[in-house]
Amino acid sequence: MATRHEEIRADRPIIEMVDIRKVYDTGKVKVEALKGIDLSVAKGEFIAIVGPSGSGKSTLMNLIGCLDTATGGEFRIGGELVKGLSRDQLADVRNRRIGFVFQAFNLLPQISAAENVAMPMIFGGVPAKARKERVAELMEKVGLGDRMEHKPTELSGGQMQRVAIARALAMNPDIVLADEPTGNLDTSSGGDIMGVFLDLWKQGRTLVVITHDMALARRAGRIVEIRDGRIVRDAAVGPEEGAASVSAAAGAHVQGLASTAEQAA
Ligand SMILES: Nc1ncnc2c1ncn2[C@@H]1O[C@H](COP(=O)(O)OP(=O)(O)OP(=O)(O)O)[C@@H](O)[C@H]1O
Ligand SMILES: [Mg+2]
Repeated sequence: MATRHEEIRADRPIIEMVDIRKVYDTGKVKVEALKGIDLSVAKGEFIAIVGPSGSGKSTLMNLIGCLDTATGGEFRIGGELVKGLSRDQLADVRNRRIGFVFQAFNLLPQISAAENVAMPMIFGGVPAKARKERVAELMEKVGLGDRMEHKPTELSGGQMQRVAIARALAMNPDIVLADEPTGNLDTSSGGDIMGVFLDLWKQGRTLVVITHDMALARRAGRIVEIRDGRIVRDAAVGPEEGAASVSAAAGAHVQGLASTAEQAA
């Protein structure tokens, strides 16, 4: 439909959510996981999504990643309306626009790191020569140029996550989405992975990263806090917000701090 493919204006946010709701209906119980989310993310922003367990972070992530659809509200990605799309159409939006990074890495164990990174390009029909060059470039970018032929089991956790990030970048997505990417890593490797994200941010990537770790969240450009299906805080990270985050991590009340960051496009 022509209306879905509106022209993408440079000043248009890459993610636009208005009053997004998600109800899981398991038959016996209905869970209202998201209760009206308004979220706008400009191209090139790095946002961290934080909040307690069960607050709706992964639910929001699945909607942004077009892995699931909302039960209410309006969501546009790159100006494209994600509503009433068929499964195939959703898959198409996902493949074109999103690179996923998961807590459990989700690498294929039988094949090499390089082959894992190549996988989305095989599905995407990228010719072998271009694929090979791109894999080498991406492995270099995540600091694993010398680990191309290693299988995932022959890599450390942090290295596996780097491979997963390289794979997420393979098709040059508009947005890199990560759900607890450092959740299975020790503090030091987690910090390294955050460093990779920071490099990508400097290079102009749009990043949305869920994390329980406030110290990591504070390194992003903006922190969005979710509680019980609602955004209770949305603020750019500056010296002061950083301090606020520390007190939030220490259990202080944050509701009163709720404010909306006006990001310059
Ligand atoms: N597929 C599902 N069916 C029914 N309820 C679900 C489903 N997925 C999540 N929920 C419920 O929706 C709410 C939000 O879950 P969600 O996974 O988004 O939380 P989260 O913030 O990611 O938590 P965590 O930090 O533990 O990963 C929870 O109450 C959860 O039980
Ligand atoms: Mg989750």
